[in-house]
Amino acid sequence: MIKPMRVLGIETSCDETGIAIYDDKLGIMAHQLYSQVALHADYGGVVPELASRDHIRKTIPLIAATLAEAGCTKDDIDGVAFTAGPGLMGALLVGATIGRSLAFAWDKPAVAVHHMEGHLLAPMLEESAPEFPFVALLVSGGHTLLVRVDGIGRYEILGESVDDAAGEAFDKTAKLMGLDYPGGPRLAKLAEQGQGGVYQFPRPMTDKPGLDFSFSGLKTATAMAINEAGAQPSEQTRANIAHAFQQAVVDTLAIKCKRALVQTGLNRLVVAGGVSANTSLRAQLSELMQGLGGEVFYPRNEYCTDNGAMIAFAGLQRLRANDIEPLAVRARPRWPLDELTAVD
Ligand code: KG4
Ligand code: ZN
Repeated sequence: MIKPMRVLGIETSCDETGIAIYDDKLGIMAHQLYSQVALHADYGGVVPELASRDHIRKTIPLIAATLAEAGCTKDDIDGVAFTAGPGLMGALLVGATIGRSLAFAWDKPAVAVHHMEGHLLAPMLEESAPEFPFVALLVSGGHTLLVRVDGIGRYEILGESVDDAAGEAFDKTAKLMGLDYPGGPRLAKLAEQGQGGVYQFPRPMTDKPGLDFSFSGLKTATAMAINEAGAQPSEQTRANIAHAFQQAVVDTLAIKCKRALVQTGLNRLVVAGGVSANTSLRAQLSELMQGLGGEVFYPRNEYCTDNGAMIAFAGLQRLRANDIEPLAVRARPRWPLDELTAVD
């Protein structure tokens, strides 16, 4: 019989401090999230140095609160997992240093988790977890990736963005439209009021073969429409532009997902990362998979954006495979997903 394990997860790669405890018998026992949205709002985006300093203030109290919520002490924890990359270097170093040091002090193993592997595995925290193999669409603020997944750490990158990530395109377009940070969800909300067919934006890189993405041209097309709408466009015009932008991103992602499924011959799709919370994207991908007679899996909303639960879960999988960290504190602002080792 395999001994049940329990892992503390620490996420500090960007503007959210996320802490969780995952037990492979009980599931997520506790998770806490502190968002820095208010801190960065005045600047219209994440200020890396402020993010690092805030993680320093929040991480340890949040770990204490999470242990208390789960009714655990350090003796109940089998390992400490932290996001080691990719992300903002200073922000990563806070979680990596605290995680590594805590593991040393507690005499437990430390596990360095790849942030995108965390996102990728987040749907496995749900009751109906996807089985391998599947195609994963990872759409976050920093990455847009299509990946063939044959197991944990068995990742083949099928396509990625050659410029802006999908979430980044949402955020930059939101800024152009005068929406406050964090722009992506606000733009999505505005798009709900929009009328289809008024504006038509390109579906970049869908007319030629391949699975890569490009979103910077779409952002420019949207910027032009915003300019043409004049200094004070009506709320309906703004909503129509937001709707057309969102529809172009969603269509582009759906076209490439279908292509990836056909190319791999697979019929399971996993969608994760911040943009996977987008209701329009979910509706379209669910419809696509219904048409293909396949299945689509998402994390619940709170595990779409950054959180500690996905890091604790991914950390436990790697701890089981004994993929543990030496004493050095490791953090990588850039870290290709397909460099990870397979766990079996
Ligand atoms: O995964 P995540 O929390 O952080 C990164 O790893 O980057 O993703 C954040 C991204 C941001 O760009 C945000 O605007 C976008 O996800 N996002 C959304 C929605 N919710 C979050 N984009 C579109 N629609 C949403 N509902
Ligand atoms: Zn993320």
